[in-house]
Amino acid sequence: MSDKKVTLTTHYDDKETSVDLAVLFPTLGRPVVDVRTITSQTGLFTHDPAFTATSSCESKITFIDGNEGQLLYRGYPIEQLAEKSNFLDVAYLLLFGETPSASERETYRQEIEDYSLINESLKTFFEGFHYDAHPMAMLMGVVGSLSAFYPDALNIRDADTRRKTALRLVAKMPVISAAIYKHSIGEPFVYPNPKLGYTENFLNMMFSRPNQDYEIDPLAARALDVLFILHADHEQNASTSTVRLAGSTGTNPYAAIAAGIASLWGPAHGGANEAVLKMLDDIGDISQVDKYIAKAKDKNDPFRLMGFGHRVYRNFDPRATIIRKLCHEVLAKYGSDPRLDLAIKLEEIALKDDYFIERKLYPNVDFYSGIIYSALNIPVNMFTVMFAIARTAGWVAHWNELVTTDHKIGRPRQLYTGLTQRNFK
Ligand SMILES: CC(C)(COP(=O)(O)OP(=O)(O)OC[C@H]1O[C@@H](n2cnc3c(N)ncnc32)[C@H](O)[C@@H]1OP(=O)(O)O)[C@@H](O)C(=O)NCCC(=O)NCCS
Repeated sequence: MSDKKVTLTTHYDDKETSVDLAVLFPTLGRPVVDVRTITSQTGLFTHDPAFTATSSCESKITFIDGNEGQLLYRGYPIEQLAEKSNFLDVAYLLLFGETPSASERETYRQEIEDYSLINESLKTFFEGFHYDAHPMAMLMGVVGSLSAFYPDALNIRDADTRRKTALRLVAKMPVISAAIYKHSIGEPFVYPNPKLGYTENFLNMMFSRPNQDYEIDPLAARALDVLFILHADHEQNASTSTVRLAGSTGTNPYAAIAAGIASLWGPAHGGANEAVLKMLDDIGDISQVDKYIAKAKDKNDPFRLMGFGHRVYRNFDPRATIIRKLCHEVLAKYGSDPRLDLAIKLEEIALKDDYFIERKLYPNVDFYSGIIYSALNIPVNMFTVMFAIARTAGWVAHWNELVTTDHKIGRPRQLYTGLTQRNFK
């Protein structure tokens, strides 16, 4: 913090008021003006509906520099974590601030294993859903229902309870997600296997059947693990902000995470990878690629190349750079699907085309993640669920940070544009 100030002078109600606003200096990134005294000193509110110019909290978890294409978890570059770490350790890093020591890792892995079983009566919840219910609808309902199984989680002042809640969520998300898939295809649920790692277990719970051998492909497990690392956190995105806002009321943390899942579901957020696959289906054939590239460039045509461009990353998406190589390895092994050949062609043309080069429209992480999931036989309507499994680590880390620091209930104000007062007759 510093003594730097911005002075705001307002001319309102026939008087001039000057307010000194403190400038706050982050450890990385641009300074932030603290506007909290504006209302008490001038009687005016600030207006920023989509938070495009607003920092909503202080956080020590994740840093993004969109111009430089930089993403850090607890100070570590995402490239290094993706290359040298694994999802479970990264989740620990996000949750507790450091990667685990050898003995901490042993305890942590044992806890994850212990918490991975879901209560048998929770299984009856799935039966209440029709087989073709959207997996995100089921995920939201089942995770929300965990607040009934763990009412003690409301004891948010207790560090042990918070730790249990965090680890239960990380442990149970892949189990619940695979159970949702099994329910949708009418196959029996597969229990987690203590001999398998986190991502291997997920693949096994998704694809093994009691009447068949299932071999886990190390390339598939590694690709998925890297994708989980890349999606684990992204600072104050819509779903994380939703978790924080819900958490600020002191609600049960499972309910706050269910709110985050609801927010992630939208196509403007977690649904983008689904949109990439739908676009590939619409294009249909390599012979149509030029036509669709022309449509994307035509200002009179609303069509955009899904999976290209990013609001925050104006240079390149560091996550896309990491996953691109893995995507090509996965496609070299699994790529018999014509949609995947189409994706390679699209990427090739767009990366050479002046329109995309000039506007810095590179493929984003969703372009590659959708293709990898598809190559691994994960159905399109499960893509956002995959995102939710990974993002749970970030959501819980942010919830934990919120409830362990001084905070008030989140309560924005509004610009009222309705009717003025009138009498009811
Ligand atoms: C991500 C996205 C919403 C960012 O949008 P934005 O920040 O508003 O970007 P802009 O609209 O300012 O784009 C700048 C220019 O690139 C063009 N552009 C951006 N994304 C494009 C795309 N995917 N296909 C074609 N043209 C695109 C815009 O038309 C604009 O062109 P202009 O300068 O000639 O008007 C946008 O790139 C997009 O719609 N991408 C496709 C959807 C997607 O993949 N979403 C997932 C993001 S993780």
